[in-house]
Order: sequence, then structure tokens, then C-alpha cells
Amino acid sequence: MKKLVYFLFSGMFAAILFFGSCEKVVYPPIEIPDSVNYKADIQPIWDKNCLDCHSTGLPPTLTADVSHSQLINGGYVNTDIPMESELMIKLYTSPHDARATEAEKQSILVWIEEGALDN
Ligand code: HEC
Repeated sequence: MKKLVYFLFSGMFAAILFFGSCEKVVYPPIEIPDSVNYKADIQPIWDKNCLDCHSTGLPPTLTADVSHSQLINGGYVNTDIPMESELMIKLYTSPHDARATEAEKQSILVWIEEGALDN
């Protein structure tokens, strides 16, 4: 009998942990922009997150003077299937996934969806 009570209690405890923890997962709202501008919205992401490594020699070079042509000519962007762009795959693969916030990744995705313009 003691064993049965113990079993029931541990089962309940596990259930509370399981369902309780599910409810606690609250994702912060992500603002997905309707439209982005490369120079105003995307280049600042490279400036802030990428230039430590991608400014001299390591491809793609992401400094403002060449970043757009590097990404397009380097084949990192696929405007037909944006999520299959090498750039997006990189940004969702460790360790690069930690180099941009989810909101920044969404802006980059919108930029590709809009045709990866140099605007
Ligand atoms: C701490 C250094 C570092 C930072 C910061 C960094 N990267 Fe990288 N990145 C690398 C290294 C090293 C490689 C080559 C190895 C690899 O592919 O992971 C690379 C590879 C890449 C590639 C693939 C290049 C190729 O030709 O295969 C892309 C695209 C890229 N990075 C984009 C970015 C973007 C965009 C950011 C900023 C959001 C960024 N990286 C930030 C170090 C960095």
C-alpha cells in the first residue's frame, strides 16, 4: 500500500513538473517588419554582430562598402527559397545562431523575401 501511494504521488509530481513546465514557456513577442531597407536595417546588423570576424579576408566580407555584392555574388542568398539561403542556414546553425537575435534574423529573411535589394 505504501508503495502504491508513493507511486501515485511521484506520478502526480512528474505530471505537475511536466505540464507545469510546458505552461511556463513564454516566448517574447517577435516584431517581424513588413518591409526592410538594406542600408538602414540590414547593414547595422552586420556592423554590430559580424564585423569582428567578417571584415578582413574571412568570406563573406560584411563591411558596408562591399557586403551587398559579397552576399549576392558569393551565392549566399536564394531569393526563390529564402529559408534555404546559405546565409539563413548559417544564421540558424550553431555557433552562428547566437550571433543575431531572432528579430534580426526575421529582418534578414524579409530582406531576402523582398528580393535582397541594395536599397
Ligand atoms: C567570432 C567570429 C565570427 C562572427 C562574429 C561571425 N562569423 Fe560568420 N564565420 C566565422 C567563421 C570562422 C566562418 C567559417 C567557418 C564556418 O563556416 O563556420 C564563418 C562563416 C560564415 C559564413 C559561411 C561562409 C562560407 O563561404 O561558407 C557566413 C554566410 C557567415 N559566416 C555569416 C556571418 C554573419 C551574417 C555574421 C553576423 C550575424 C557572422 N557570420 C558572424 C566566424 C564568425
